[in-house]
Amino acid sequence: MKNLGILLSGRGSNFVAIADNVAAGRIPNARIAVVISNKADAPGIEIARSRGLTALVIRSKGKQREEHEREMVAALQKHNIDLVCLAGYMRLLSPWFVQQFPQRILNIHPSLLPAFPGLEAQQQAFAYGVKVSGCTVHFVDEELDHGAIIVQRAIPVLDRDDEHSLAIRILEQEHLAYSEAIKIVLEANFEIVGRRLVRKITAP
Ligand code: GRF
Repeated sequence: MKNLGILLSGRGSNFVAIADNVAAGRIPNARIAVVISNKADAPGIEIARSRGLTALVIRSKGKQREEHEREMVAALQKHNIDLVCLAGYMRLLSPWFVQQFPQRILNIHPSLLPAFPGLEAQQQAFAYGVKVSGCTVHFVDEELDHGAIIVQRAIPVLDRDDEHSLAIRILEQEHLAYSEAIKIVLEANFEIVGRRLVRKITAP
């Protein structure tokens, strides 16, 4: 059984999608061992509690990054986390944190990276006038929204879209993409060639 640790800061809809897929057995051999929020009032942490999951608030406010991260890493290690999933976690991770979990931290970003990294990616894409957008699940490395890509899902930008409708349709894809990516990573049947995640061919 692989232990997932979810880090979030807000709404938590990606966490809920992952939790539903885990509960339905669609991510085999995985359990959510801990959900951690850096914000006490994050709706996502309330949902985690209501589902009976181990839910921790480790406040970042008023703390140095290093102190906060040490607390986070200690909590993740205590719960024997195999894979850390950032799901709307709105803090940058230091290189030290990333190195504690080599190739074991995933993030989801609401654009087709490398286009539109950073905040408000959906609005950036809409304003740029792209005709296709989507979401990316990637490994976390030391740079923002940068590590090797695991899954991308694309959608057309429609003439009738506005920023809001586009963000909603991207979010629907996020909810599918994150669990797909977790499954791929836990199956461990791939190699990273340069930046490319290449799945190994398995004999029939
Ligand atoms: C999502 O759009 C995700 O791509 C981005 O932050 C948002 C989190 O939403 N990293 P939620 O908290 O999972 O609902």
